[in-house]
Amino acid sequence: MSSLVLMRILESAPDRYDAGMRVLSLGAVPRLHEQAARLAVHKAGARVLEIGCGTGAVTRLLLERGANVEALDHSPEMLDRARARLGDHWTGRLLLRESTAAEIDALPAASFDAVVASLSLSEMSASERTYVLAAAVRALAPGGRVVIADELRPRLLWQRTVHVVVRLPLALLTWIVTGTTTHAIADLGGELAAAGLRTVEEHRSALGTLAAVAAERER
Ligand SMILES: C[S@@+](CC[C@H](N)C(=O)[O-])C[C@H]1O[C@@H](n2cnc3c(N)ncnc32)[C@H](O)[C@@H]1O
Repeated sequence: MSSLVLMRILESAPDRYDAGMRVLSLGAVPRLHEQAARLAVHKAGARVLEIGCGTGAVTRLLLERGANVEALDHSPEMLDRARARLGDHWTGRLLLRESTAAEIDALPAASFDAVVASLSLSEMSASERTYVLAAAVRALAPGGRVVIADELRPRLLWQRTVHVVVRLPLALLTWIVTGTTTHAIADLGGELAAAGLRTVEEHRSALGTLAAVAAERER
């Protein structure tokens, strides 16, 4: 969904972020969050690492499904909002940490049943994504999965054309306001494969521009 590039602007106002994303995506983002949580948690007590938790929308869904969650974000403002949303209710099952995604390389190997990234990989450079995906694979316990929910470049030519035409002026506006932008991921399947992962489930929505993807280690 092309308008999601504006999420960078919303991140500068965390208290309006969730409502803004709901409106910008015409309800598609909350549905994407639900899909990500469903793909990530298959049993109560699953150990889940969340990269770029933002205001904690997916974090809460993961917790409600019974997971034990370690959620990190590099933005203290977004983390404050997540703390306000999640409160003390999940003590013992939730660790919220200020950290960059790349720092997951310091976590113990094979310690998570799922690693989830919702709308955070598209904020990273291609090289950072490569590093983070490799570190995520290292953090996965046997049988674990990586779940990505994000903006992807659509597959069909006409969808790609609409996506570019609508997205470009919004990306420019975002750049002018924040000095940053996001990148619809062009070949997530290829990036996952390069990290040694095989896509096992994929759900596309919003004219092919949003996807929730689960991937497991190649055997
Ligand atoms: C668009 S928000 C998405 C938040 C939440 N996951 C969701 O789906 O609503 C992206 C979040 O990822 C965080 N983020 C982006 N790049 C990051 C990185 N390299 N390390 C840690 N957090 C990052 C941002 O601070 C922001 O809170």
